[in-house]
Amino acid sequence: MMASQIDSMNETFYQEVKAGLQSRQKKLPSKYFYDATGDQLFQQIMDLPEYYPSRCEREIFLHQTAALAQAIQADQGNFDLIELGAGDGSKTFHLLQFLCRQKYAFSYLPIDISGNILNELEGVFKQHLKGYTIHTIQGEYLNGLKKAASNADKRKVVLFLGANIGNFEPADALVFCRQVRRLLAPGDLFLVGFDLKKHPAVIKAAYDDQQGITRLFNLNLLNRMNADLGAGFSLDQFDHYCSYDPITGACKSYLVALADQEVSFPTYKIKLQAGESIWTEISQKYSLQEITVLAEYAGFKQLQVITDSKGWFANVIWSI
Ligand code: AVJ
Repeated sequence: MMASQIDSMNETFYQEVKAGLQSRQKKLPSKYFYDATGDQLFQQIMDLPEYYPSRCEREIFLHQTAALAQAIQADQGNFDLIELGAGDGSKTFHLLQFLCRQKYAFSYLPIDISGNILNELEGVFKQHLKGYTIHTIQGEYLNGLKKAASNADKRKVVLFLGANIGNFEPADALVFCRQVRRLLAPGDLFLVGFDLKKHPAVIKAAYDDQQGITRLFNLNLLNRMNADLGAGFSLDQFDHYCSYDPITGACKSYLVALADQEVSFPTYKIKLQAGESIWTEISQKYSLQEITVLAEYAGFKQLQVITDSKGWFANVIWSI
């Protein structure tokens, strides 16, 4: 990466952080969790006993692979499999392996904000899926999708897994789904992973684990602002807090200031009072009915719903 690109990336980061910390309810965009340390911590989160979403979705990709392949109409000729926020691609890998074994023709285009994780993914996939095209795209979801769609006349199957859609507030999720739909053509499909509403205690525990890995994941955002933006956060002055509202389905994470303090950035300062919270993430939970309504409002037709054995997670397939 060229120095000027790094600078322009940090410039956007700086501006978004500034806007978030200067608003009345302080907030920070959760997409910035994922630097090299954040990627690593999220990998650890996925292995936590309390963090069920990854295991539930993995179960679907491992044990209902044929149903997934059929749902994306893999036998209907060559297609582009585009993944938004691919991460390490470990769930998708099972599907890709299955598609390879069935000799279906496809190209895989993983998009992720983290260039670091894409390099890892590319290494693993090239080793195991010989003869298939992999083209990684570093960037945000919609820009990446535009890039992936621009040079393709093939049918598109867009994957949005891991309950990443939960990082949008419901109204924004709707806007996002509409934007995706506008980039698709008839015959294209959108496969989305949703974390479902369940016992609130199960959800709460998943975002407030015993080992404190989620706490480190949240606090790492402060580290990253210190390292990349020259901010002056003291990590021992903050705590991790999360709440879950079973009615709205909103699971939210916060960084709580433990004392009155002033934090400086190169061009401004912010004040925090003891007990004040910075909202850092939403992980929205849905009912099956809410998902159906979302599909409809976004202009999609819901073709299929595949859930895990516990009924805790759903992968849905939508067409336009
Ligand atoms: C990767 C966005 C799906 O919201 O469950 C895990 C991130 N945050 N623990 C989620 C996360 C705290 C995760 N997603």
